[in-house]
Amino acid sequence: MLRLLQLTDSHLHASPDARMRGFNTDESFRAVLAQAMRDPDPAEAIVVTGDLVQDETRAGYERLREMLAACELPVFCIPGNHDAPELMASVLSAPPFQLNGDWQIGNWRLIFLNSYCRGDDGGRLPREELQRLADGLQQENADHYAIFLHHQPVPMGSRWLDGVGLRNADELLEIVDGSSRVRGLVWGHVHQASDRRRHGVRLLSTPSTCLQFLPNSDDFALDSRPPGYRWLDLHANGRIDSRVAWLEEN
Ligand SMILES: [Fe+2]
Repeated sequence: MLRLLQLTDSHLHASPDARMRGFNTDESFRAVLAQAMRDPDPAEAIVVTGDLVQDETRAGYERLREMLAACELPVFCIPGNHDAPELMASVLSAPPFQLNGDWQIGNWRLIFLNSYCRGDDGGRLPREELQRLADGLQQENADHYAIFLHHQPVPMGSRWLDGVGLRNADELLEIVDGSSRVRGLVWGHVHQASDRRRHGVRLLSTPSTCLQFLPNSDDFALDSRPPGYRWLDLHANGRIDSRVAWLEEN
């Protein structure tokens, strides 16, 4: 069994004192990470699914790198709409960090897709990413696949948020539907938890390590839920056990 910790939408800034809508994102990220690392069943790797830094600053990425490197685990990162992909590449590409790409571990392969689309809060998978996924799913050496990306590939039921989802989700889902070995699709971006199934594939979204969005809201609205994160247990038989954890007060 492989245990993953998913962290998403940390929205850090150059200054650790900076606030987003009045909320200190650095403080909540530190608290989330500390709580997750205290868990009696520790993670074997961390996946960070986009919107790592809010203000496109090197200092923001460097502080994130420092905090995550202290965990001494492999860390897989993908960009979100708020990220600066070139900065991410220069700060988060050397081990223990990996930007995009994939990871084969045991009979699982994790595929990290880059849905960043310059100038758009929504996402798009370019042809090369779709081709990389299609090729990856043809490999013989993995029995089970989990796919990670920033943008939601299915509607969340929230009008404003579904206006900034994955623009070419149909192309992704067509490739997923063509494989019998995809077990999970996991994303960030939506700042809320969801857990569904589509043709036997687990569809999971994960709360942000800072502020949450109100589910099913037609217009932008914040939820009062605390910062959160997700555990994913990938079993050798293809089963995924997953749960969301919320930051406990103090
Ligand atoms: Fe996002």
